[in-house]
Amino acid sequence: MPEQAATGSALAPIAPVYPFAPEHRADPYPVYRTLREGARVHWSEEQESFFFTHYEDCLAILRHPAGSTNMDNASMSARRTMSAHSPMAAMEAKPMLFADPPVHTRLRTLVSKAFTPRAVEAMRPHIAEIVDRLLDQAEANGELDIVADLAFPLPVIVIAEMLGVPVEDQDQLKPWSADLARTIDPVLTEETVAQAGMSALQFINYLNGLIEERRARPKDDLLSGLIAVEDEGERLGHDELLIMTMLLFVAGHETTQNLIGNGMLALLRHPEQISRLRDSDDPALAKNAVEEMLRYDSPVQLTGRHLMEDAEFGGTVVPKGYSAITLLAAANRDPDVFADPDRFDIERPNANRHIGFGQGIHFCLGAPLARAEAQIAVPALLRRFPELALPDDFVPAHRETFTLRGLTSLPVAI
Ligand code: HEM
Repeated sequence: MPEQAATGSALAPIAPVYPFAPEHRADPYPVYRTLREGARVHWSEEQESFFFTHYEDCLAILRHPAGSTNMDNASMSARRTMSAHSPMAAMEAKPMLFADPPVHTRLRTLVSKAFTPRAVEAMRPHIAEIVDRLLDQAEANGELDIVADLAFPLPVIVIAEMLGVPVEDQDQLKPWSADLARTIDPVLTEETVAQAGMSALQFINYLNGLIEERRARPKDDLLSGLIAVEDEGERLGHDELLIMTMLLFVAGHETTQNLIGNGMLALLRHPEQISRLRDSDDPALAKNAVEEMLRYDSPVQLTGRHLMEDAEFGGTVVPKGYSAITLLAAANRDPDVFADPDRFDIERPNANRHIGFGQGIHFCLGAPLARAEAQIAVPALLRRFPELALPDDFVPAHRETFTLRGLTSLPVAI
C-alpha cells in the first residue's frame, strides 16, 4: 500500500473478498455489499489500485479534474502488461476513452453529432424494423435465444450500418472485437494481451482496406465522414481514424447486448413486472425499466481514473500516479441512494440516477443509442411473445469478462 494513503478504518485490503474470482461471476453483488459495508476504500496489491464502491465517491472520482484515463498515467500492473505486449501501445494515437483533454475534446467533438439524442431519435423507426426482422426469424425458427437472436445482432447491425462497415463482415469482426473488449478487464494475462494485439492488427488491416474503398467511393456513413476530416489534415490522424472506428464498433455492441441480455433476465425473474410492462401503454414505463436494468445488473461493471495529483476520496488520499477504480455496479446498489437496492423494480422513482454510463467528460457517447435500442427491443419482445418465460431448468452462464458483464446465452420458452 502506498505510504501517502491515509490508513485507518476507511481503508482495508481487498484481498479477503476478491471480487474478480470466477466463483463470484454468477452473482458479484453480495461481494460488492461486503466490500461496501466493510470499509469505505479498498486497496488491491495485485492491481496496485484503490477500489471504490460508494456512489458518492465514484461520482467524485469520475468528475475529478486530476483523474486521467490515459494509461501512461496509470500505476496498474495491467498497464505494464499492456505496454509490454500490445502493438496498440506502440501507436501514438489514443482512443478518446483513453485520452485526456485537449485530445479527448478534439476526438469526441468529431463524432458527437452522430450520437445526440436528436440524431438517435431519427433512427428509431429503422431500429424497430431491425428488431422486427430479427424477431420474425426467431418466430419462424420456433425458438428464441434472446442473446443470440436479438441482443447480440441488433447492436452490431446498428453500429455497423452507422459506421459503414458491411454487416455481412460481422462474423469476421466478432472475434477481434471480443479480444479487444477483454483488455479492459482488471485481471489480464499476457496471453490475453498478446491475442488482443494480434486481433487489433487484423482489425486494422481490414479497416485499411475498407477506408481505401470509401475514399474512392464515399457513402453517407460515419466512416466516409471521418475520412473526409482526415483528408483535411490537422484534426484527425490516420491512426486516430483507425482507433476511433474500432472503439465505436467495439463499444457499440459489446455493451448493449449485455444491457438487453442482463435486463431481460432480471425481467423474466420478475414475471409480475413483465405483465405490468406489457399491459402499460405509457412509454415512460419502458424507459424507466431500461434505466432500472442498467442500474440493477450493469453491463459495464467498473471503470477507473489514474490520478495526476494527490486527491482524497472517501477519507483516503489516492496519491499521484495511482489508480482509483470505480465499481459502477456496486455504486448502483448503494443504499444511501437507492432504497432497497437489491430489489429489481421497473417503477423505481430514481432508477435513472445510476452511473452505468459513467459520469463526467467520458460519459458514454453512445448512451442515447443504447437506450433507444433497449427501449425498442424489450417491449417488442414482450408484445411478440406473450408467453415468454425462463425454462424451469435455466442456469445462467456468464461471459468470462469481468468489466463487461453479460450472458453467453438466454434461451427462453416462447
Ligand atoms: C448499455 C450500453 C452501454 C454501456 C453500459 C456503456 C457504458 C459506458 C461507460 C461506463 C463509459 C465511460 C467509461 C469511463 O468513464 O471510463 C462509456 C464510454 C463510451 N461509450 Fe459507452 N456504453 C454503452 C453503449 C455504447 C454504445 C452503443 C456506444 C456507441 C458507439 C458507446 C460508445 C462509447 C464511447 C465512444 C465512450 C467513450 C466516451 C469518451 O471517452 O468521451 N457506448 N460507455
